Amino acid sequence: MPLKIVRNDITKINVDAIVNAANSALLGGGGVDGCIHRAAGKGLLEECKTLGGCKTGDAKITGAYNLPCKYVIHTVGPRWFGNKEKKEALLKSCYTASLQLAKERNLETIAFPLISSGAYGYPKDKALKVAIDAISEFLFEYEMTAYIVIFDKTAYKISGKLFSDITEYIDDNYVNEHTYLRSARMPMMASTAPCPAEDVCECRIPFAEDDLDLMIKQIDESFSQMLLRKIDEKGMTDAECYKKANIDRKLFSKIRSDIHYKPSKVTAIAFAISLELSLDETEDMLKKAGFALSHSNKFDIIIEYFIRKGNYNIFEINEALFAFDQSLLGA
Ligand code: AR6
Repeated sequence: MPLKIVRNDITKINVDAIVNAANSALLGGGGVDGCIHRAAGKGLLEECKTLGGCKTGDAKITGAYNLPCKYVIHTVGPRWFGNKEKKEALLKSCYTASLQLAKERNLETIAFPLISSGAYGYPKDKALKVAIDAISEFLFEYEMTAYIVIFDKTAYKISGKLFSDITEYIDDNYVNEHTYLRSARMPMMASTAPCPAEDVCECRIPFAEDDLDLMIKQIDESFSQMLLRKIDEKGMTDAECYKKANIDRKLFSKIRSDIHYKPSKVTAIAFAISLELSLDETEDMLKKAGFALSHSNKFDIIIEYFIRKGNYNIFEINEALFAFDQSLLGA
């Protein structure tokens, strides 16, 4: 764990392996294949010539030459025509075959482009869904960090219905308090730790210095203690919880061993989602970390939308957050 969706050029990503959306000859081509070969240099093509090609849905591994990663995994996606079920199975197999190769070499980080979604014509939203399903299924069993790299902004769209439902929900609930928040509340944030999700952290609960003692006295259970209690109450194992939260095992161990650990807002919400907490319970858990949900930013409203719908699939939530240009859940 975890799975992250990022916008970037895959040739620039510093991971153990990047995946190439190649063709069955494995001798280079256009799209991401062309970018990877250009950035890697001639050595990559020379090694590819020795591989004897690759079947659709299968994967082969080579060195990375001038690329910043250590390996390139070449896979061949299906073209988008003919039997759709068969296409989906083949596309899924590209991800699992690549992950399997990474696992055999004990790699810890891997980055995928959206295979088949360019020259091979697979609709991008469907290609992304297959990618997320295949990768998250694998990551539930094995420890690895995987990136899905989206090359350009327009390349990404969630289903029209979900997008319009969320847009409507945001329109109904959005309260533009930003001016007020920034002028009146921000100075009080000086006493809080910096949050990696900067665009959402104006919602740390504001408090006056005089209230501090009172607040500290009221806090009888830390975030970490509450989290561990909830995991027990839900009958989950630690691993089930952090995997469902899209949280790295090492970070979970840190939280477990430090009762005073202060998570970022995205981490705290990821756990609330994993535990399938109601909106009230989510608020309680966030308070332990010094945060709150508000209607003053889209991020919070999108989280609220999914909790109200009872949809606790963190990858679907992240897909939506990504489409609305918000920070993603997990760590
Ligand atoms: N980084 C990340 N993603 C990229 C990059 C990049 N530098 N460049 C393009 N993409 P495609 P396919 C995205 O056509 O559909 C080749 O000629 C792109 O926006 O590269 O599997 C091969 O040789 C798209 O979303 O691969 C094959 O013949 C995604 O990568 C054929 O194309 C995949 O687009 C394979 O077609």
